[in-house]
Amino acid sequence: MHQDGLHVEGVALADVAARFGTPCYVYSRAALTAAYAAYRDALQAHGLADRSLICYAVKANSNLAILNVFARLGAGFDIVSGGELARVLAAGGAADKIVFSGVGKSRAEMRAALEAGIHCFNVESASELDQLSEVAGAVGRRAPVSLRVNPDVDAKTHPYISTGLKTAKFGVAFGDAFELYRRAAALPHIAVKGIDCHIGSQLLDPAPAAEAADKVLALVDRLAAAGIALEHIDLGGGMGIQYHADEPAPAASDYLAPMLEKLAARREKLVFEPGRSLVGNAGLLLTRVEVLKSGAEKHFAVVDAAMNDLMRPALYDAWHDIVRVGACPPAKRNPGQTESDTATGTAAGTPMSYEIVGPVCESGDFLGHDRQLALKEGDLLAILSAGAYGMSMASNYNTRPRAAEVMIDGDAVHLIRRREEIPQLFALESLLP
Ligand code: LLP
Repeated sequence: MHQDGLHVEGVALADVAARFGTPCYVYSRAALTAAYAAYRDALQAHGLADRSLICYAVKANSNLAILNVFARLGAGFDIVSGGELARVLAAGGAADKIVFSGVGKSRAEMRAALEAGIHCFNVESASELDQLSEVAGAVGRRAPVSLRVNPDVDAKTHPYISTGLKTAKFGVAFGDAFELYRRAAALPHIAVKGIDCHIGSQLLDPAPAAEAADKVLALVDRLAAAGIALEHIDLGGGMGIQYHADEPAPAASDYLAPMLEKLAARREKLVFEPGRSLVGNAGLLLTRVEVLKSGAEKHFAVVDAAMNDLMRPALYDAWHDIVRVGACPPAKRNPGQTESDTATGTAAGTPMSYEIVGPVCESGDFLGHDRQLALKEGDLLAILSAGAYGMSMASNYNTRPRAAEVMIDGDAVHLIRRREEIPQLFALESLLP
C-alpha cells in the first residue's frame, strides 16, 4: 500500500479512526486496482491476457465491496464454499467466471454451484468426482471439471500454507491423475475441461511454481495423446508479497515470468487464482494503544486489536510491519501545533523495544515482537500488509466484535462493513427452557 504513515490515498488515518473507531481495517481501492493491473500486465507481456482468467481467491478477503471492485475489473473468482459462492453472486460477480476449489465440497454446495452455472469445479479426489457426477445427474446438468493434481513440489513456504507436497491432503496424487482423467471422461454427468494445481501461498521464489507448471504441462500433453484434450490450465495462486520493509517481494512480472514463458506457445486457456497478491498490500489494520506497561523484562504496548482481528502472527508467527500514525494532515493542524503533537494530542514517547499485544487472554495474542517505537497511550498504530487473510480469518474470540472495514477511494471514505455490535454476537444463542 502506498501510505506515508499518515494517509491512505487522500485520507488521513487519524480521521478514519476518529470517524469509525478502532480497530478498523482500511483498504485502498487504488492499491487493489494496481495489484490487479500488475497481474494482468504480466500476462499481457507474454501475450496471454486475452486467453487468461484471473480468478481472485475470495478467502483472502471476502468483503462484498472488495469482490465488487474485482468484478468491475473483469475478474473471475476462486471460491471454496457455498458461502463464498453466495458472496460473489451478491457482489455482482459473474457465475461463469467462478472456479470452485476445496478438498471437501458438500453435496449442497455442489448443487448450488451447478445451479449457478459456474465455470469449473476443481476436483480433488476420486470420491468427489463420483459424488459430483451423482449430484449433476440429479439436477440434470453436466459438471465442468478440472482435476487438481498434487505435483509433489516443495513450495518452500510456511508448512501450514504449503499444499503441493505428496504428504498434503490436497489434490489427486500425481501418479493417479491420468487414470482418474480416463474415468472422468467416461462419466455421463462430468465434462472434463481442465487441470488445476496450487502448491502453496506466500511464495517468493518463482522456481517451485515453474517446476509445478512443467509437470502439469507434461500431463496435459500425455492426456492429449490419449484423446483427452483439455481446454484450460489453472495454475492456482500463491505469489508472495512484501511484509517486511527489509525483505522485498518480487514484482508480479518477475515472479510470473518463468511460468508464463512455458505457456506462451500453447493453445489452452489459462486460469490463475491469486488471493494475497491482489489484496495483501492494499490493506492495513488501524489500532489504538490502550495501555503501556513494563514487565520484569519487556515493555508492552497493549492495543485494541488482537489475535481475533489479525490471526496471522499467532498462527504462523507472521511478521507485519507496524508504524505509528504520528501526525494529522497539515490542513487539520491547529496553528502552533507541531506534527508530532497532533494525532494523539501528545508528543511521541521515548523510542524503545515494545511487544505489541492485544487484550485477549493468551500469550499467543501478539501482533508484533520487539518493535522499536516511540509510543504514548492513545497513539494510533497501523499494522501494514493486512489486507489478505486478516478480516477473513477474524473471529469473535473473547466475545470481541469484529472490526469495522473502510475503503478509501481517492478523497472518499466508504464504510464497507460496520463494526459488529455486542448483542449481535449472541443473538443466535438461547437459554435452556
Ligand atoms: N487457490 C487455492 C486452491 C488456495 O488454497 C489458495 C490459498 C489460493 C488459491 C490463494 O493463494 P494466495 O494467492 O493467496 O497465496 N491464511 C494463510 C494463507 C492460506 C492460503 C490458503 N489457500 C495466511 O494468512 O498466510
